Amino acid sequence: MDDDDPEKGAKARLRSRDWFDDRTNPGMTALYLERYQNHEYTREELQSGRPIIGIAQTGSDLAPCNKIHVFLMHRIKAGIRDGGGIPMEFPVHPIHENGKRPTAALDRNLAYLSLVEVLHGYPLDGVVLTTGCDKTTPAMLMGASTVDLPAIVLSGGPMLDGWWKGELAGSGTIIWESRRLLAEGEIDYDEFISRACASAPSLGHCNTMGTASTMNAMAEALGMSLPGCAAIPAPFRERMNMAYETGKRIVAMVAEDLTPSKVLTRKAFENAIRVNTAIGGSTNAPPHLQAIARHVGVELDVHDWQEIGYELPLLLNMQPSGRYLGESFYRAGGIPAVMGELDQAGLLHRDVVTVSGKTLGDTLDGCRSRDHDVIATVDKPLRENAGFLVLSGNLFDSALMKTSVISDAFRERYLNRPDAENVYEARAVVFDGPEHYHAALNDPALEIDENCILFIRGTGCVGYPGSAEVVNMQPPDAILKAGIMHLPTVGDGRQSGTSESPSVLNASPEAVVGGGLALLKTGDRVRLDLNARTLDALVDDEEWAERSANWVPPELTNQTPWQEIYRTNVGQLADGGCLELATAYQKVRRLMPRH
Ligand code: FES
Ligand code: MG
Repeated sequence: MDDDDPEKGAKARLRSRDWFDDRTNPGMTALYLERYQNHEYTREELQSGRPIIGIAQTGSDLAPCNKIHVFLMHRIKAGIRDGGGIPMEFPVHPIHENGKRPTAALDRNLAYLSLVEVLHGYPLDGVVLTTGCDKTTPAMLMGASTVDLPAIVLSGGPMLDGWWKGELAGSGTIIWESRRLLAEGEIDYDEFISRACASAPSLGHCNTMGTASTMNAMAEALGMSLPGCAAIPAPFRERMNMAYETGKRIVAMVAEDLTPSKVLTRKAFENAIRVNTAIGGSTNAPPHLQAIARHVGVELDVHDWQEIGYELPLLLNMQPSGRYLGESFYRAGGIPAVMGELDQAGLLHRDVVTVSGKTLGDTLDGCRSRDHDVIATVDKPLRENAGFLVLSGNLFDSALMKTSVISDAFRERYLNRPDAENVYEARAVVFDGPEHYHAALNDPALEIDENCILFIRGTGCVGYPGSAEVVNMQPPDAILKAGIMHLPTVGDGRQSGTSESPSVLNASPEAVVGGGLALLKTGDRVRLDLNARTLDALVDDEEWAERSANWVPPELTNQTPWQEIYRTNVGQLADGGCLELATAYQKVRRLMPRH
């Protein structure tokens, strides 16, 4: 048996043997064995040379969107056992999008860090990454990318479809709609809550194409989960089967030494960007994919999203870009059907390898949409040019705009301008954070009318901290009552993946680190030019320079030690919001930790 270099491939000695069968150090081997054998495992098993497979458990009472994994665990373990491995489940720092204050985004990098430490410091040869709620998927993929241990994603799957009074009620989308109805006086507080609860009828993550469904789709599109994994609703029998197959497959991946760096290539990211357009995926995908790419060492840039993804069609008719929810998406064929349609049009790299061990092309043969009302074909898409635009100007170096959600009414009003130049000038109204926005929105002194653009700042990675999903601001009540559902909004934070708001978001650099948004004042004129892909404050250079010279960075108050560590080390959303120092660590598994 070859010695300790896992880079030597399948023949290499399993790293777990360094813990459980090191004849040069019987004292340490005994210490490891005596505890691990005392409950779940026998000495014989631990010394058998079978791979030890970690299962990163992201579900818990505090992380309900991933709690399905608590019930899938015995099937994952059965698959690992039947594959010839030994399963070891371990907990992951919980990340629940709706439960964690101030933001779940703050904890993505914390869960990432702790996963790196677990994968590096314990006797593991491969890992099953359980995913679901928004940040859990990127956190798991980032950690596996840094360590580069064989890894496979098991999605928890979306909840069953929600219904309210005979209509589909989707996660998040029902909240935005209910907020408008509440502002218009159409519903009261109790009905608001009943409507929201109706959208969440079972275990699983959000049933719309929000950030959770998007990121699980991205994991599959990148090749990091078995084909068909992402869309299976959490409570379905097929989800149980997928858990078993995933467990079985990771054991073979260890033998093949199929690591994340072999799957997560530049071509795999290009495929994922294309799939994101076709599914109307979340604006949170760019920073998360950027972070995964940086941790695995692949060159990716925020502008790639426009260059590779913009001129592609929207195929999936799922909220917030379309009508349906997760169950319909699954029945129409899920991600393999979307990718099959893109592949038919020659829009994917077929020669990338996936965790299945086959090339993408081999796994897609024969995969097509089973329902063209839910998954359209490239010939007859729901919308052309449906990807993200990447804007720049004197307010930021880059910001994203998701075009698949822009309604016809909004296009007519703001984008398809009669001058055909698509240049829209407006008055800026600036809010310093969501508290200011909520307190001041309906103040007549702000004089908000339909010729205004709403700005929010102080909501990026450093500012919030963690970057908050607050850019999808709804207009004042008076504007809503006048029948205008959206004003253009701009901010250095993010927006919920379930929002259908036509926002310009993820502006980088953010205001608190001196981005141009910091200098904007309510009343300034701004110009949005979608042909030139620019957004600028129309303030003369001298005045702008003076504001810049007089700008004082705001004082930031940290409430926990992690907030301080995070703020000191985090980068900008355009760069993935990573802990910058962590991106220097690559293929950590090459280094065996000391006893
Ligand atoms: Fe957890 Fe949407 S809030 S998946
Ligand atoms: Mg969200």
